[in-house]
Amino acid sequence: MASLAFRSVGKTYRIQSGPVQALQDVSFDIADGEFVSIVGPSGCGKSTLLKMCAGLVPRSDGDILVDDRSVTGVQTQMGVAFQDSLLLEWRSVLRNVLLQIESRKLRIEDYEQRARDLLETVGMESFADAYPGQLSGGMKQRVALCRTLVHDPSVLLLDEPFGALDAMTRDQLVLDLGKMWLETRKTAVLVTHSISEAVFLSDRVVVMSGRPGTILDIVSIDIPHPRGIAVRESPQFVEYVTSIGRYFQS
Ligand SMILES: Nc1ncnc2c1ncn2[C@@H]1O[C@H](COP(=O)(O)OP(=O)(O)OP(=O)(O)O)[C@@H](O)[C@H]1O
Ligand SMILES: [Mg+2]
Repeated sequence: MASLAFRSVGKTYRIQSGPVQALQDVSFDIADGEFVSIVGPSGCGKSTLLKMCAGLVPRSDGDILVDDRSVTGVQTQMGVAFQDSLLLEWRSVLRNVLLQIESRKLRIEDYEQRARDLLETVGMESFADAYPGQLSGGMKQRVALCRTLVHDPSVLLLDEPFGALDAMTRDQLVLDLGKMWLETRKTAVLVTHSISEAVFLSDRVVVMSGRPGTILDIVSIDIPHPRGIAVRESPQFVEYVTSIGRYFQS
């Protein structure tokens, strides 16, 4: 159970050459169990917004509320997957997934079966004892997704979790993620450069402007779940993708 609220959130980074205003006056709410994606040009503050939500970066203005409580420190109940979250090469797949449990000082035995079940959901069960160096890029991303989910987080913050993958692998992982989300209905925030991925997975898509990032629009995606891959060819889906894409045509 977790709802999020962003209230007039702003962020200015102070670097040697002067202040950089990354975000300005960002306000929106995310309901418990809702899947929201954020799309916007590079450098508009999407990663910054997720990091502030996770309590990893302090905000400069406004407030971020998790279940009506202001974020003041690191939010350990959240499951976070960042743009370049890598696996530890010297640990097996299973032990990479269980890293979250170890770092939270929870009992490994209580979570091993869950870790194996998650690996099975993404077709990786037979690689539990393999090492990251023996996996393809897409397989590593699948393991990273399991690691994000293993401690049963109340909120998922996903920052381009499939960034560097080829289109086919990415499609499969998007389906995996959609399936996992439907099974658990966690509150989820996904940052992605793919408008079609955002529309496919989300209840709502937040469209942001270039830096300083502000909200241009919030689009409700009125397509029932579960969404099969064929949904992407429906006129309704295409219309959503086209209308959001218009914000980024110059
Ligand atoms: N630690 C930091 N120190 C100083 N400036 C930063 C820092 N992190 C981000 N910025 C600046 O804040 C702005 C927003 O960065 P952010 O990484 O949030 O953008 P983004 O929307 O995630 O971009 P991308 O789509 O390329 O990942 C950029 O101008 C960046 O230079
Ligand atoms: Mg980013």
